[in-house]
Amino acid sequence: MKVLVIGGGAREHALCRSLSLDPDVTALHCAPGNAGIAEVAELHPVDAMDGAAVARLATELEARLVVVGPEAPLVAGVADAVRDAGIACFGPSAEAARLEGSKAFAKAVMAAAGVPTGRSYVCTTPEEIDRALDAFGAPFVVKDDGLAAGKGVVVTDDLAAAREHALACGRVVIEEFLDGPEVSLFAITDGRTVLPLRPAQDFKRALDGDEGPNTGGMGAYSPLPWADPKLVDEVMETVLQPTVDELRRRGTPFSGLLYAGLAITGRGVRVIEFNARFGDPETQVVLARLRTPLAGVLLAAAEGRLADLPELVWRDDAAVTVVVASHNYPGTPRTGDPIEGLADVVAQDAPHAYVLHAGTRLADDGSTVLSAGGRVLSVTATGKDLGQARERAYAAVDRIRLDGSQHRTDIACEAAEA
Ligand code: AMP
Ligand code: GLY
Repeated sequence: MKVLVIGGGAREHALCRSLSLDPDVTALHCAPGNAGIAEVAELHPVDAMDGAAVARLATELEARLVVVGPEAPLVAGVADAVRDAGIACFGPSAEAARLEGSKAFAKAVMAAAGVPTGRSYVCTTPEEIDRALDAFGAPFVVKDDGLAAGKGVVVTDDLAAAREHALACGRVVIEEFLDGPEVSLFAITDGRTVLPLRPAQDFKRALDGDEGPNTGGMGAYSPLPWADPKLVDEVMETVLQPTVDELRRRGTPFSGLLYAGLAITGRGVRVIEFNARFGDPETQVVLARLRTPLAGVLLAAAEGRLADLPELVWRDDAAVTVVVASHNYPGTPRTGDPIEGLADVVAQDAPHAYVLHAGTRLADDGSTVLSAGGRVLSVTATGKDLGQARERAYAAVDRIRLDGSQHRTDIACEAAEA
């Protein structure tokens, strides 16, 4: 089948890599893509946010399946535009994607479905904000209601900083602080049947030891040796299935990837957030472990046939990914620097370690790869356990040269020693 992937980050590179290894995929296209995706898919300079343009491209390419990677096009209705053109699309409708697009909507769905999450207030006035901050006390958790590319959430002990962020947001969700390790659990769903993937953990802070500002994610690993083996079953029963059922009941079924960001608190599992798409960088490690060819699973979800699918098959391997970011990320990143050493990773580390591109582009010479964003590369490796996957990932990171770049050195470190 012919497949078109929309987006151009490391998540889309991971999706394209898996799809390119799937014998059922006869042609793979991506828009807009990046320098790494260009090695496995044909790129098209189409704006991911333009639903009509995406639908036109999919029609021209005779795509059997379109996969929309990032949240912004989903919230903007790009999956609806593709489906309206009669083409199967993996990704929720704009209405269902509000689960990610509006934190207040997500809270309302969770309340209706009885899904465990932190207590919260939706506030729009300074008086409401002060009352909510006062009710919870420090540490304060203040979330912009809308999409903010990972920058809408402030967690702080500083009341003045919490208040300032809340006032800047307009509509804001102020929430109880949830203490405990975080887990990302993805599920593929067709709006009725829910197929959980393997849990992963993301490292959101910029610096080692979970210091520094929040980022889009600096690394991830899977499996989680420290987690309760019953975690997936529990989250299926208390979170994923009830949420999917509630959205169907409302007449806005959610089909695509439902991402539950969870806190494992002393009082049990709580949802921190929902996302309406594959997470980045967790996708890199989850897909590295999936043996079942991907295209058939995504197509079955898009066509409402998940119940007929055989169980997913997983490798025993562990996987680790380390994000290499530009100088100054998550602030305004420096871009346009040449990246060297990519061929060395292919020569010396494949197939166990490989580089997935995030913010990269080809220079005009057609061969030099340049940095083009905050998160530049996601260096991914598999191994018999997390220790080996970690060693392989960092060996590959060490071969890469990008002036001023930064990465965390402690991805999966604690879990590997557990
Ligand atoms: P989000 O954009 O909702 O994923 O939030 C970004 C990060 O902020 C999360 O990964 C958590 O580390 C942190 N966070 C969000 N909500 C809470 C909460 N209620 N309690 C503690 N930390 C939180
Ligand atoms: N890994 C966090 C996210 O994708 O939102």
